[in-house]
Amino acid sequence: MQLRKIEDLELTGKKVFLRLDLNVPIKNGKIQDETRISEALPTIKYILERTSRLTMASHLGRPQNGGSPADSLEPVGAKLSELLEREVVLFPDYATESTIQLLNTLSKNQVMLLENLRFNPGEEANNVEFAHALVDGYDFYINDAFGTSHRAHASVSAAAELLSADRRAAGYLMQKEITALSEIVSRPAAPFTVIMGGSKVSDKISVILNLLNTCNHMLIGGAMAYTFLKFKGIDVGSSRVEADKMDLVETIFRNAESRKVQIHLPVDHLCANEFAETAAAIPVSGAIPAGLMGLDIGPETQKAFARVIRESKTVFWNGPMGVFEWPKFSKGTMSIAEAMADVRGKTVVGGGDSVSAVHQSGFASKMTHISTGGGASLEFLEGKVLPGIKLLMK
Ligand code: 3PG
Repeated sequence: MQLRKIEDLELTGKKVFLRLDLNVPIKNGKIQDETRISEALPTIKYILERTSRLTMASHLGRPQNGGSPADSLEPVGAKLSELLEREVVLFPDYATESTIQLLNTLSKNQVMLLENLRFNPGEEANNVEFAHALVDGYDFYINDAFGTSHRAHASVSAAAELLSADRRAAGYLMQKEITALSEIVSRPAAPFTVIMGGSKVSDKISVILNLLNTCNHMLIGGAMAYTFLKFKGIDVGSSRVEADKMDLVETIFRNAESRKVQIHLPVDHLCANEFAETAAAIPVSGAIPAGLMGLDIGPETQKAFARVIRESKTVFWNGPMGVFEWPKFSKGTMSIAEAMADVRGKTVVGGGDSVSAVHQSGFASKMTHISTGGGASLEFLEGKVLPGIKLLMK
């Protein structure tokens, strides 16, 4: 099965509904990271070169009880207006009358952005009536919201199904993400190294097991490494451990052994006697004494991990090596980004925290691909067929 692409459609003069993932961090009305907006631009511009009849839709955050002004897409609309040099009209009240009626009232220099889809309970409930209000009357449905493609919500699923398969397609970002991540799961050039970090092995178990099918090395860092070390019988002091998840670690080691994948664990750490930004960073080699907790990988581990990364032809990274938001415990995570920047091959970064970390490192431009999807990229790499993508197939 192949993806139907936006280029396959004849959009000239047509009415287009575009699902985007404009779920960007906003603080006090200011957008903190515009990546998802700038990544949406190629598709928006492609459409606007062919038609002015465009409605854009996205969710923002996880608003409760119908949402509050802080959950509004208003700042995103203002940014889009500036970038597109057109008036972006934000429609707050579209759930009861169909959005096409509102679009029909706009002039040629205006485009429509629907207010946060999650203000309406019908969105997350994948409600068909709400889906009708969204897309009835449109000629085409384009989905460029890769980051939301794992959610079977109305704008991603029910709405898409209301148009026949030949009238829905994937935008450029969706295509780019699928191409980059598919290469990781199906045909990575060897040696292929996977770097896994973050706090919980239980959150990543499915993706780890799936990537063990194709990788040669797996580097484990972050808090999840302490669960692995504990399993190996190494003392980890008061580091965070998922004591009830040892069976998962055992499964990982067993699968790695049968597939001849080398698992690399930290051999030294930067520790602290409390979980606080102001705590002193104490270097520890080997076992961690009682009263100390590991908050970053140490210099020997950084060197060993960097060696494996630099010799790889394909690298996938998800999850930080430590508490990178705190300068004293950020070096391990930054050293991963630095080593990946030297790789002569493909480097893919997926998942929220590692994406912020790679931007913080200053090496973002050296990566082959930085996914805009957090949960979506992980579920894709687990080998799942994501609901939003399935509906874009020919
Ligand atoms: C994300 O940021 O991962 C996507 O926008 C999906 O958001 P959600 O996890 O709130 O569904």
